[in-house]
Amino acid sequence: MLIRREGETDAEVIRAVTAAAFARPGAPGRAPPEAALVDELRASGAWIPALSLVAVEPAATGPGGDVTGHVLCTRGHVGDAPVLALGPLAVRPDRQRAGVGSALMHAVLGAGDALGESLVALLGDPGYYGRFGFRLGSEYQIAPPVAGWQPHFQVRLLTAYRPSVRGMFRYAEPFDRA
Ligand SMILES: CC(C)(COP(=O)(O)OP(=O)(O)OC[C@H]1O[C@@H](n2cnc3c(N)ncnc32)[C@H](O)[C@@H]1OP(=O)(O)O)[C@@H](O)C(=O)NCCC(=O)NCCS
Repeated sequence: MLIRREGETDAEVIRAVTAAAFARPGAPGRAPPEAALVDELRASGAWIPALSLVAVEPAATGPGGDVTGHVLCTRGHVGDAPVLALGPLAVRPDRQRAGVGSALMHAVLGAGDALGESLVALLGDPGYYGRFGFRLGSEYQIAPPVAGWQPHFQVRLLTAYRPSVRGMFRYAEPFDRA
């Protein structure tokens, strides 16, 4: 498996991988909102090209290969401070539980740290994301915009984090419509 930045021709396969990963059993044939969200984020000012990464199974020969997963971080804020918002994270169903999601997480967290970002926020299962260093936002006085999200709202501190980054977190605007 290789991890690389999203390329110019990857948008369609990313949409397909995201739609497959988030497909609801009760709503077959209906595209899950996460797939459109990635496209809307790409078209927004919150997009950070260096932090949209794909996992690829290399072709046996030559360039190309199959995209099996995708992760991205976009611009969010805690108070007035710029931070990263992680998600959606998607792995093709036939490649789940084989380490692809973990590889994408480690890669995007390392990339965000290398860019000098202060922290990464997300909504997700603490049982999964704890292994990547995520902790409840409340440990750092960082609150989600909706009080009910609190048990799933987590942050991962990066090297440039300072305790002055605290207050309410906000996702980029496309998340409000998703
Ligand atoms: C969540 C997701 C990204 C994980 O990716 P993955 O490639 O399957 O994850 P990994 O193989 O790196 O899994 C690492 C560990 O996570 C756990 N894990 C993975 N998927 C899980 C799931 N659906 N439920 C609970 N635990 C899970 C496993 O315990 C695994 O540990 P193990 O190797 O000891 O079994 C993937 O299952 C997915 O795309 N799910 C649908 C979309 C989604 O829910 N995205 C996340 C919310 S934004």
